[in-house]
Amino acid sequence: MEIKALKKKFVEIYGGTEADLRVFASPGRVNLIGEHTDYNGGFVFPAALTMTSTVIARPRKDRQIGLAATDLDCRIKASLDELEKYKSLKWGNYQLGVADELQKAGYPIVGCDMLFHDTVPLGSGLSSSAAIEVVTALTLVTLGNEAKGLTQEVNMIDMALIGQRAENRYVGVNCGIMDQFASAMGKKNHAIFLDCKDLSYQLIPLNLNGYKIVIMNTNKKRSLADSKYNERREECEKGLGILKKVLPDVSWLGEISYAAFKQHEHLIEDEVVKKRVEHVISEDDRVLRSVEALKNDDIHAFGRLMIASHHSLRDLYEVSGKELDTLVEEALKIDGIVGARMTGAGFGGCAVSIVKAEAVEALIAQVGQNYLKRIGYEASFYVSEIGDGGKEIK
Ligand code: GLA
Repeated sequence: MEIKALKKKFVEIYGGTEADLRVFASPGRVNLIGEHTDYNGGFVFPAALTMTSTVIARPRKDRQIGLAATDLDCRIKASLDELEKYKSLKWGNYQLGVADELQKAGYPIVGCDMLFHDTVPLGSGLSSSAAIEVVTALTLVTLGNEAKGLTQEVNMIDMALIGQRAENRYVGVNCGIMDQFASAMGKKNHAIFLDCKDLSYQLIPLNLNGYKIVIMNTNKKRSLADSKYNERREECEKGLGILKKVLPDVSWLGEISYAAFKQHEHLIEDEVVKKRVEHVISEDDRVLRSVEALKNDDIHAFGRLMIASHHSLRDLYEVSGKELDTLVEEALKIDGIVGARMTGAGFGGCAVSIVKAEAVEALIAQVGQNYLKRIGYEASFYVSEIGDGGKEIK
């Protein structure tokens, strides 16, 4: 939907005129490499997509938040003074969790009506939820500051942190910072090389000369993904606890080198925990090597690292599954493919591949056909453009 149509829809729902409406948008992300490393103080390498959560908004004079979406019938009205009440909402809990965390952090937010229009496919591992969190935070802080006559710019890293906190405390998923950071801080045609220990980052130009990033969606409905995600996190904490006995200065798995892990791995008796730790520490190393490869324009070295990452997520971290493995296997059979791997939390969701521009059509046709044959339903494909992070659309 165009902005014009969205504004019209807003007025149909909330009344008034279009004159005082504001528009904000924040994107989903694709992670190129560095999976399940963020909450371990490691490196990640995501990029913002051009699929976004767009919000049409207007401040209110009272302390009510109105929520509506273009693709849902449900309408929500919530009071800023009773935000704890809405945690079990199926839709609207991300937005209200963000409002709650903003208030707890002391931001002067005001009531407001919002209409959401989401083009990031929901629950697909492309961070539709982070997009909603970041755009909600940006909208509420911008309008709240203005109502109080404050003129400072909104700090987008803080908005990412608020979004993560809402997801951790309000929604109950113990996610790391990668998704919200990418949604808030992305830049057109760049990937973000982020150190999750301290949030230092570099924007790395993605010069893909002649190659395309193709996202392949398993369309598998994810079930139990949140509880399995939290379980992986606990296993990493167990592993860290054991290694800290011999490496007392370390606070994160992301600070342990692969050589140090190999030296002390015998201390981890639980084979499952050992595998989880090995994935995290080796994946961290692959991110560093990937950034180097891309800086040197060595796309093939990057592709090999993507494939190694997928194998590690499949065999050591065990968050892939037959749908994601099928997409990756089938993609790797295509002439002109450079690399492919699952992206995001896993357990369904999407895989990302890099392929020669002239092979994109063949990839979509052949992988699509073979996936349908092997899995029994269709996959979807997006040739992705890399876009900007969250901002007001003027
Ligand atoms: C989800 C989480 C992120 C990150 C990835 C796995 O997308 O929200 O914080 O942990 O999974 O890399």
